[in-house]
Amino acid sequence: MSDTHTPIAPTASHVRLGSNAGQPMTRRDGVAKVTGSAVYAADNRPEGLLHAVFASAGIARGRVTRLDVDAAKSHPGVVEILTPQNRPPLQIDPDAKPHAFSWRIEALQDDTVRYAGQPIALVVAETLEAATEGARLLAPTYEEEPARIGFDSGALYEPSAVGIGAAPSFTKGDIDAGHAAAEYSTETSIETPIQYHNAMEPHAIVAEWNGDRLTLDTPNQAIIMARGMFAGYFGVPPENVTLRSPYLGGGFGSKAIPIGPQLLAIMAARMLQRPVKLALRRDQMFGPVQHRGATRQTLKLGTDVDGRLTALEHHSTGMTSSFDEFIEPAANASLNMYASPAIATRHKAVRADIGTPGPMRAPGEASGSAALECAMDIAAEAAGLDPLEFRLRNYAETDPASGKPFSSKALRECYAAAAKHFGWASRPLAPGQMRDDAGRFVGWGMGSCLFPNPMFPAQARAVLRRDGTALLETAGADMGQGAWTALAQIAADSLGLPLDRVEFRAGHSALPSGGVAGGSGHTATAGGALHAAGGDVLRQLGEIASADPDSPLFGAGNAGFVARDGRLYVDGDDSRSDSFADIFARNGSAEVTGEGSASRAAEHAERFAMYSHGAVFAEVKVDPSLGQVRVTRMVGAFAAGRIINPKLAESQLMGGMIWGLSFALHEAAKQDPRRGHIVNADFGGYHVPVNADVQGLEVITVHEEDPFVNPLGIKGVGEIGITGTVGAIGNAIRHATGRRIRSYPIRVRDLVGAGD
Ligand code: MOS
Repeated sequence: MSDTHTPIAPTASHVRLGSNAGQPMTRRDGVAKVTGSAVYAADNRPEGLLHAVFASAGIARGRVTRLDVDAAKSHPGVVEILTPQNRPPLQIDPDAKPHAFSWRIEALQDDTVRYAGQPIALVVAETLEAATEGARLLAPTYEEEPARIGFDSGALYEPSAVGIGAAPSFTKGDIDAGHAAAEYSTETSIETPIQYHNAMEPHAIVAEWNGDRLTLDTPNQAIIMARGMFAGYFGVPPENVTLRSPYLGGGFGSKAIPIGPQLLAIMAARMLQRPVKLALRRDQMFGPVQHRGATRQTLKLGTDVDGRLTALEHHSTGMTSSFDEFIEPAANASLNMYASPAIATRHKAVRADIGTPGPMRAPGEASGSAALECAMDIAAEAAGLDPLEFRLRNYAETDPASGKPFSSKALRECYAAAAKHFGWASRPLAPGQMRDDAGRFVGWGMGSCLFPNPMFPAQARAVLRRDGTALLETAGADMGQGAWTALAQIAADSLGLPLDRVEFRAGHSALPSGGVAGGSGHTATAGGALHAAGGDVLRQLGEIASADPDSPLFGAGNAGFVARDGRLYVDGDDSRSDSFADIFARNGSAEVTGEGSASRAAEHAERFAMYSHGAVFAEVKVDPSLGQVRVTRMVGAFAAGRIINPKLAESQLMGGMIWGLSFALHEAAKQDPRRGHIVNADFGGYHVPVNADVQGLEVITVHEEDPFVNPLGIKGVGEIGITGTVGAIGNAIRHATGRRIRSYPIRVRDLVGAGD
């Protein structure tokens, strides 16, 4: 690709937003959530409700030979037991993959056990207690086959895709020549563990049939897509399914596609003609709900005498299930971050007896950058350079993989802002140089952050009424990230109205598709659709006014129109305006309805690479004899295009950094090598950070205008904070103690006696 590009015009509609966007509004659903009036899926108790509990496989692989259905059924309150023998058929084979974005689902299709924790029967009862006891009474027996646990359990193979349809390998330039030309060569191996999403709200569903109409209360990140999938499995048209998901207590990627337990609850509700509730227990959140697959990564970096990369090679082996495939696309983290004349990435995979992994909090970017950022520090050390200086020498002015220019990239500004605020300039180059008053080792580390800016199909509807109020709707999902607030701000601005005149609806399948609350793209996509729907209303109002000889806008034709404070203006001409009220009054109509979709100009998608960027600096203190680590300070600076709500965006970025801390120091699921169950399947054993683990935490948002990424210039903030942070903490521990830990999470046992 040539270095010169003809100048390209920004999207004509790189729009100004009104006075709501940019305000640090407090989340509008906050009071309802903290006072308990927000209704989550499992809070629903329709008349005649039955409770379902699934029994889980206690072995890693084999066959269920017997279930004591009679014992379970004779327990008072137990109504029905679903097993592979009696469960009703599904319209779509759960082992099929009917959709590009679908998984094989464990829904009692046969007596095979594919992993420990897999549902093997469903007990439905009048009470939760009876269903729980019924599940215990099933006392399964098995024909057991040897468990295949861990990376060494099977043959490595080359997957045909990683992540969701991404190429498993990439090569640019001559990697061997790049290594041969290197002055310094480093090789780094890093392991990342199995992690489970563990949203605060466990997966739950309340299913109710009424003839061939199905109503579902279940938390979902992609309501219209999931509705279609549920409808497909049960052989009814999508419009027969109502899916309500007003609130999610977190999703992190695990609440987009249907999972087995949801299908089982829907089956039971149809079979028994009564509503059925199924809510997973915390230990079941380590089973049929997807997880982040473990990785083993190796990076080989070559660096010239000036500290510039000559070769960047990143291999990752991902662990997937025995019966389906999702490979953590970790090596792809090296495609878009640092400039190198030669880049080679490759993935391999191994099958093990575990549920199928899926997307979780920056899938690929999180695990991959955890390794890449350590490898960069190791290479910097070899070249005798400060880690920040080394990254600046390898700054990518264009996208390393595609050669395309970035639609915007303020990473340099992020480095500068975060480094200054952190005080990076006084960092001693050598490790082990700093101690605090208590004698603890102090270390400073950093990492670069990157996340792509996907756009999903999304639609919205806007209704402006003659009384000056409006209704804006899209089936978006608030997982806790603040969509109810940020999207409402965009919705109000699309019509130039104050927020209190606008009713905003989301979280329901009767609304236009809000796309996916995932990929950090929800504000850009659902927000873009809302803004376009409001714009469609303004266009129609303008048409009405333009044709009306009594309107000051008479004859304005198809000039663009904008709105402020209940008035319609010719775009760019403040002298010509008419009020909504007068336009409606003269025209006599009661309301104007508009529709809109999310969009990105095809020309811009083709010409530019689009990413959010950031930099995280971390300080750790390590007790020299106990090995205890505290992350005492983190400063992150992020450039993510237009920020709709600074308070919620900062909260998202902080949340991402906290999940990075969690990845670095806390989270790991351990499988029993014989039976394959997760031995730490609770919050006592599976650690996530608590307030005491998170000390100084500061977020800086760097101003960035991106006229190409989408009409509103929004890039997304949901996942980028976890990238870069993991490596920053690993690097800080190395700087504190001199120890380079190559397996996450970093534990006390890795650091105990660091002072000896
Ligand atoms: Mo996310 S892993 O895009 O919900």
